[in-house]
Amino acid sequence: MQVDMSVNLLGLKLKNPVMPASGCFGFGKEYSKYYDLNKLGAIVVKATTQKARLGNPTPRVAEVTCGMLNSIGLANPGLDKVLSDELPWLKSYSLPVIVNVAGETVEEYCSVVDRISRSKLAHAIELNVSCPNVAQGGLSFGADSKVLSELLKRVRGVCSLPLIVKLSPNVTDIVEIGLAAQEAGADAISLINTLIGMKIDINTGRPVLARKVGGLSGPAIKPVAIRMVYQLADVLKLPIIGIGGIYTAEDVIEFIMAGASAVQIGTANFTNPMAMPDIIDDLERYMKEKGIKDLDQIRGCAL
Ligand SMILES: Cc1cc2nc3c(=O)[nH]c(=O)nc-3n(C[C@H](O)[C@H](O)[C@H](O)COP(=O)(O)O)c2cc1C
Repeated sequence: MQVDMSVNLLGLKLKNPVMPASGCFGFGKEYSKYYDLNKLGAIVVKATTQKARLGNPTPRVAEVTCGMLNSIGLANPGLDKVLSDELPWLKSYSLPVIVNVAGETVEEYCSVVDRISRSKLAHAIELNVSCPNVAQGGLSFGADSKVLSELLKRVRGVCSLPLIVKLSPNVTDIVEIGLAAQEAGADAISLINTLIGMKIDINTGRPVLARKVGGLSGPAIKPVAIRMVYQLADVLKLPIIGIGGIYTAEDVIEFIMAGASAVQIGTANFTNPMAMPDIIDDLERYMKEKGIKDLDQIRGCAL
């Protein structure tokens, strides 16, 4: 039986629904030594900010039960280098390139999105709204629907590419935030970013991470992610990209059944650099075994 794993996302043709989650794949160079990146549905690169960032002091990653904590702090080479050294290299691949954008002010987001939009080196923008908003005392842009709307309206004005808004799960009501993003001009939603967590070394009695708290990712967060994707798929008209703890083809199926159009895979890449190609092969096998001809057949069936 022939199965069709392709996905049409925002006018972009993806061979399959699997793409890396930002920050867990760099700009793809390291992974290209292990497999042909054309195997993937799309590429999502590391957060890009206006200026280069070294990130937070170390230790900034820690293993925890069923996942990891990180407080990397958006380390990246900065917009100029991303445009001159990183994105041109990806042009040799025939798949959509999604650039994750971060900022500390509305102006920074707008200026980065504007230049990436005009560079012709990206097919879509993914806006990471989990960043601390300097003007609002460090509360994240994605934590307040009014602040988020204001940001998205301004970004929309300079963004000629499809705009994916990546939501933070660290909110009281994800539906309110998702509706605000839709209203303010998002073309798609991706979720979830990491949950805030902490680990204490019981020998020293001190937090393990230099920044004390960090983002929890990996299998531990999957049920939270499934719940949030499901809640938003129920009320939004926009396509949703599901993220959080995906390690197997069965996890992908679960996100699609919750209503996701596509998925991103993060922490699993650190455990096994071949995680994504393996999951894509397994997904095809699973669909054949279960007689699923295409993903539309099961998308949102749990709703
Ligand atoms: C080391 C690390 C770095 C990350 N960097 C970014 C980033 O730059 N931008 C972003 O939007 N999300 C970032 N994330 C969040 C992931 O893209 C993803 O949303 C999260 O890890 C949940 O997926 P997972 O459980 O499959 O890892 C990062 C996660 C990790 C573990």
